[in-house]
Amino acid sequence: THQWRGIIEEYRDRLPVGPDTPVVTLLEGGTPLVPAQLLSERTGCDVYLKVEGANPTGSFKDRGMTMAISKAKEDGAQAVICASTGNTSASAAAYAVRAGMVCAVLVPQGKIALGKMGQALVHGSRILQVDGNFDDCLDLARGLSEKYPVALVNSVNPVRIEGQKTAAFEIVDALGDAPDLHLLPVGNAGNITAYWRGYREYAADGMATRKPRMWGFQASGSAPIVNGAPVRSPQTIATAIRIGNPASWQFAEEARDESGGVIEAVTDRQILSAYRLLAAKEGVFVEPASAASVAGLLKAVDEGRIDPGQRIVCTVTGNGLKDPDWAVAGAPAPMTVPIDADAAAQSLGLV
Ligand code: F0G
Repeated sequence: THQWRGIIEEYRDRLPVGPDTPVVTLLEGGTPLVPAQLLSERTGCDVYLKVEGANPTGSFKDRGMTMAISKAKEDGAQAVICASTGNTSASAAAYAVRAGMVCAVLVPQGKIALGKMGQALVHGSRILQVDGNFDDCLDLARGLSEKYPVALVNSVNPVRIEGQKTAAFEIVDALGDAPDLHLLPVGNAGNITAYWRGYREYAADGMATRKPRMWGFQASGSAPIVNGAPVRSPQTIATAIRIGNPASWQFAEEARDESGGVIEAVTDRQILSAYRLLAAKEGVFVEPASAASVAGLLKAVDEGRIDPGQRIVCTVTGNGLKDPDWAVAGAPAPMTVPIDADAAAQSLGLV
């Protein structure tokens, strides 16, 4: 029998690890590339969802975190720190447990989803809620890591990007070549940077014959790259990407420009509509920010900008269970019935 071994063992020769690097892993990666039925019909394309919510802590961050924590351990670090809108902190907290390290996380007060807070807590990390937004948290985390003996594991740490590029490898490995178009949400812009690096590397080494156009999507109230200026007070219901001054801004623009792609904004309404469609029509439950990629695809189809016959991959970055409030909000409350088959059947409309 063969079990997926985690991204470091699966792609060791393409990652900055050596024989002495202690591999701290929860066997992340190897996530499903699910054919999307309704989206394929609607676009006349072969659309796939790269379901990153299937990672051990429920988001793509685990790919970067296995690298960041392994390298921090190799360097002798005893404590790590990150700023987060929730997923990075959940991941750092879990991998720090595996490494026997202390984990400190800085989160914007009141602006992270409950499931993510629960993860950071249950894994025993030291959580500080900051009276500010993600960008303030990242400034603070950087400052702390410069002054105190604590390793920064945000995506400004280059090994995070290295780990995350493996998602592009998996897609090419599964499809036999790169897709024509790759869509994904953009927050701090590390992931679009990582995918582009992965696709470029595979093409350069002859593992793919081409590279996709990269289409990134920010929430319209938090769209600094689209606006061309930082957003002082970013707003969106998609708290994971509520970021006004992305650390990898320039790399994201490079990915866009070198690939012939775009970075655009989608509204919260479009995000929630894609979020509901994914759950109700594709059977894939993601968190709201993750649906920005699919919201972008649906917008482009409506505007007649998707030529049929293409191979398209949308990354859906995080699991819906992270932020269940949006699943429950607006849905009718379930009916209450007595312990009686006839009454239950009546409520179900079976009789
Ligand atoms: N989707 C989800 C679910 C995320 O958690 C994030 C980022 C993104 C998309 C955007 O990715 O930042 O690489 O452009 N979350 C970070 C965090 C900021 O702290 O968990 P990005």
